[in-house]
Amino acid sequence: MATDKSDNAKGVLIDSLNGLLADYFTLYLKTKSFHWHVHGPQFHDLHLLFDTQATEIFAMTDIVAERVRKLGGTTLTSIGAVGKKASIKDEDRTDIDALDMVRELQLNNEALVATLKKTKEAAGAAGDNATDGAIDDWTDQAEQRAWFLREINA
Ligand SMILES: [Fe+2]
Repeated sequence: MATDKSDNAKGVLIDSLNGLLADYFTLYLKTKSFHWHVHGPQFHDLHLLFDTQATEIFAMTDIVAERVRKLGGTTLTSIGAVGKKASIKDEDRTDIDALDMVRELQLNNEALVATLKKTKEAAGAAGDNATDGAIDDWTDQAEQRAWFLREINA
């Protein structure tokens, strides 16, 4: 029988996962927007890199949402819900310099790594081994995206 304390830890984890999901959706759309709007001499390479990263990020959304459902929680239902829960900021400008786009996505992926570490702590506190273990792969993916982006501006 679950105690109040373990119910509370699970609630914190569900909330953390829903925040993470909102960040994935936000970063997905931003990366895709940069794929659509990037311009300049590096157009071809960045157009392709942003698309590869967007595809990887989008694939994460179903995995995170279903972790929430497996824990018995409800997950995000709308663009409005994403906007309320996301910590990564929207970017509506389309005329950004290509290397500034790269830098912005790098910082966002690094912020995602920090959010993943907090979510892993919440999974540990809730005794959720499956989420705890899965987050290591999600973190490796985000660190790889940040690395690729960082090297372009190095
Ligand atoms: Fe495309």
